Formats: sequence, structure tokens, C-alpha cells
Amino acid sequence: MTLDNCKKLAGIKAADLIEDGMLVGIGTGSTVFFFIERLIERCKEGLSISAVSSSERSTKQAKEGGIVFKDINTITKIDLTVDGADEIDHTGRMIKGGGGALLREKILASTSTSTIIIVDETKTCEKLGKQKLPVEIVPFGIDATIYKINQQGYKGVVRKNSDGSIYYTDNDNIIYDIYFEHLLEEPEADHLKLINIPGVVETGFFFNLAKKVIIAFEDGHIEERN
Ligand code: A5P
Repeated sequence: MTLDNCKKLAGIKAADLIEDGMLVGIGTGSTVFFFIERLIERCKEGLSISAVSSSERSTKQAKEGGIVFKDINTITKIDLTVDGADEIDHTGRMIKGGGGALLREKILASTSTSTIIIVDETKTCEKLGKQKLPVEIVPFGIDATIYKINQQGYKGVVRKNSDGSIYYTDNDNIIYDIYFEHLLEEPEADHLKLINIPGVVETGFFFNLAKKVIIAFEDGHIEERN
């Protein structure tokens, strides 16, 4: 089974768990793409839900498929959010933000009664840190903020678009992608060091936010971790 088929399997599995009447948080990424496709199908079959999403991209896809949206600024609780991850360890700690939507993703996940993470088997790990850690920073004073991040011992690069221009998030912020030299023993401590730097809006570390993890394997089987 190809990686895309694994992502599709996980996406479909999560979409089939959505129930009538739910306010659904829709995440971002290539795995969530398949979740949205199946959710659109289910809505066409009669499922009645409303949604909010963590990116313009996902919103566009879902709205074009006819999914009804609520104004994110008028809700205080989401029933269930479904999102992907770049890395997830066996305790559910994650690195997210490969698609640049980490801040909105964290707002959705922390507003949700329940969050399901959908991944293919390549995303699971013993320890976090093999993947880059996206850090969202405000453009004001960018060099000073990056200097402070470097002073804490972290090295990275400002994310660029394929044409070489600077990548801006949906919140008009910049992403500084940190690359670790070692796997992380205590990612919570790294998060704290980074989030305490003025100018850092959010890190891609997600702790205690995954209620259920759906992992799709290349041999076609699915594992669910609660
Ligand atoms: C988006 O900002 C990310 O957090 C995604 O959820 C994560 O990068 C997983 O994306 P894929 O499903 O495309 O791997």
C-alpha cells in the first residue's frame, strides 16, 4: 500500500467516527485532505455537522464540498477535532506544523472535547526530534527573536516558499524551522525555553492533546491508540 493510501485509510476511519450534530474541528495537511474528502461524502449522504478549520486551505476544500462552517470567533467548544502530525511518540507527544498551521491547530485542539490524530506509520517514533520543529514568530524584530532562539542553543532556518520568498502563515507570521542534532529527552523543557522568548507565538510541540491516535500501516491494517 502506498503512503497516500495509508493516509486515506486513516482519514476515512476518522471521518466515519463523526456523528450527527457535531461541531467538527478540521486540521490541515495531506492526511487531513482525505478526512475532508470522506467527510464531504458523508455530508452528501445526509450527515449533519458544522465545522471550523485550522487553515484557509482546509476551509476552501471543505466549503467547496458543501460543509457548513461556523465562525471560529463565536464558538467556545468544539466536539471533535481531527488532525495530522509530523511526529508522534508512544505517549502521544507530537511535533506538528509541517504545513505551517500550528497555531490555529493548537487553538482548535485545545478548544476540543476530543482530538483524533491521523497518521501513517512513518510518523510514529520513540523520541521526538528527528523532524524539524516549526516555531511561529511575529515578523516584528525577527532577527532579535531568532538571535534569542539561537542563544538558547537551537539552530534553524526561516521557512521559504518554493520561489524563495518568505513563507507567511495564515496569521501573517513567520515560521522558524528548528533542526535538532539529537533526539529529545525532554521536549517539554524545549517548549518552555522557546515559548518564553518574546516574539515566539507558538511552538510545534503538542502535549496532552491527542485523545485517540489512528495509525495506518503499509500492510493495510489500522491501529487505534487511546
Ligand atoms: C500542518 O501544519 C501540520 O501540523 C500537519 O498536521 C502535519 O504537518 C501533518 O501533515 P501531513 O498529513 O501532510 O503529513
